[in-house]
Amino acid sequence: MNIVHLSAECYPVAKIGGLADVVGALPKYQNNKTITSQVIMPFYDNKFTQENTFKTIYSSTLTLGSIVLDFSVLKLKNKPLDFDIFFIDVPDLLFKDYVYSSDDTDRFIAFQIAALDWMLTWKKNPDIIHCHDHHTGLIPFMLQESFKYEAFRKIPNILTIHNAQYQGWFSHDKVSLIPSFDFNNVGLLDWGSSINPLAAAIKCAWRVTTVSPTYMEELKTSANGLEYLLNDESKKCSGILNGIDLGVWNPETDNYIISKYNTKTVQSGKNANKKYLCDTFKLDFNKPLFAFIGRLVDQKGSDLFPEAFKESLLKNKASVLLLGSGNHLVEQQLETLKKDHIGTYNAYIGYDEKLSHIIYAGADFILMPSRVEPCGLNQMYALKYGTVPIVRSIGGLKDTVIDISKHKGFGICHSDTSITDIVTSIDRGVELYRDQATFKKIRRQIMAIDHSWHASAQDYIKLYKSIN
Ligand code: ADP
Ligand code: GLC
Repeated sequence: MNIVHLSAECYPVAKIGGLADVVGALPKYQNNKTITSQVIMPFYDNKFTQENTFKTIYSSTLTLGSIVLDFSVLKLKNKPLDFDIFFIDVPDLLFKDYVYSSDDTDRFIAFQIAALDWMLTWKKNPDIIHCHDHHTGLIPFMLQESFKYEAFRKIPNILTIHNAQYQGWFSHDKVSLIPSFDFNNVGLLDWGSSINPLAAAIKCAWRVTTVSPTYMEELKTSANGLEYLLNDESKKCSGILNGIDLGVWNPETDNYIISKYNTKTVQSGKNANKKYLCDTFKLDFNKPLFAFIGRLVDQKGSDLFPEAFKESLLKNKASVLLLGSGNHLVEQQLETLKKDHIGTYNAYIGYDEKLSHIIYAGADFILMPSRVEPCGLNQMYALKYGTVPIVRSIGGLKDTVIDISKHKGFGICHSDTSITDIVTSIDRGVELYRDQATFKKIRRQIMAIDHSWHASAQDYIKLYKSIN
């Protein structure tokens, strides 16, 4: 079986968030003697593309409305990954030093057309086309409707929704960018009077998955306008929980962290990483360390942090360390907070892959008070590194974290994204930390939880086989 994943992000090439981690891991775990799983993604101008060498395997032009653009397909020359990855190079549009911006519509339509045009030249069609999020959401429509892709009509295709908040809306003025199709079917592109690539994919894909079972249920009542559509299409929808890539996220082998450790050496290993963080960020080692890593956007509840941290820090029982970037006002507020809480609070505003690994390893608790969390990978990384997750019980967080008050519980769960819930949960964390015997037992317990990709990668394979 030959599977093709199409995505805007893929670790380690280009990463903004969890989409990259998933697309960079799933093919590895799907590849075996009978299955070839590969990725097609845009060629950006970033650190990865600057530091590696590529060879051109195909060159042509694509038509985007009234303009004709050169494009090439590139392959890595120097450093193979654990799966085949192909890059669509459209120099005029995709080769930028960013992944997402205001020109996404043209860029990602060009990406999708180039990818399909190239696939038309393959000797054999793929067995499954797996699209990720709205950036590749026009593909199921084009496979079904565009005249030039007639040869692809029978290829089973899947959409995975990583986040339904973002749908890629654009105006009908740009409909001519999509390769021509029977205009009687233009309604398939439409939702709420604009062209909506995510909605089009939900309508046209053979199957739709989301990244956790609970999020799938939540989408039926809260999907940023797509509730009715998802209810209507519910028979072809299912939730498959993401996994974590143990080749990248494992404290026993992680080259980014200060001291490696396993369940037996967790105490000394975490202490060494915590000491590094406390020295670097001038934090009190003796206080429990609560950390946040992520995009500073409303989805994550990060707008509440400045107030919530202030309240918690005044109690003088916890330290807080934050790594993230996003909303400028929130970034500023988080910076300003530093001067009043030297020794118990610090923040690195920016993106730093290495530091994120050290924080998972060195923190005592990870905070995730998300308003929406389709799956969430941070809590699963935290578990693997023996760091107790504090989460709002929604989406994938509900599927992966059980409150300590419950049978076999190991985390701290709250029901709202509110300042009170964040502060109260930090208080509960402080209490748990005080009881070192229980705290250490929980650490060992959570490190043993298996969230590797093995089971979920197989669930996808089962789904592919059911439509192949
Ligand atoms: P989302 O995809 O919604 O951002 P996930 O929990 O699925 O959330 O995944 C987030 C991923 O991005 C994790 O690998 C996390 O460690 C990483 N990440 C987010 N912000 C940063 C940052 N500022 N620096 C380093 N890694 C980050
Ligand atoms: C999205 C979601 C996140 C999920 C990730 C990977 O960015 O916000 O919850 O873990 O995709 O599927």
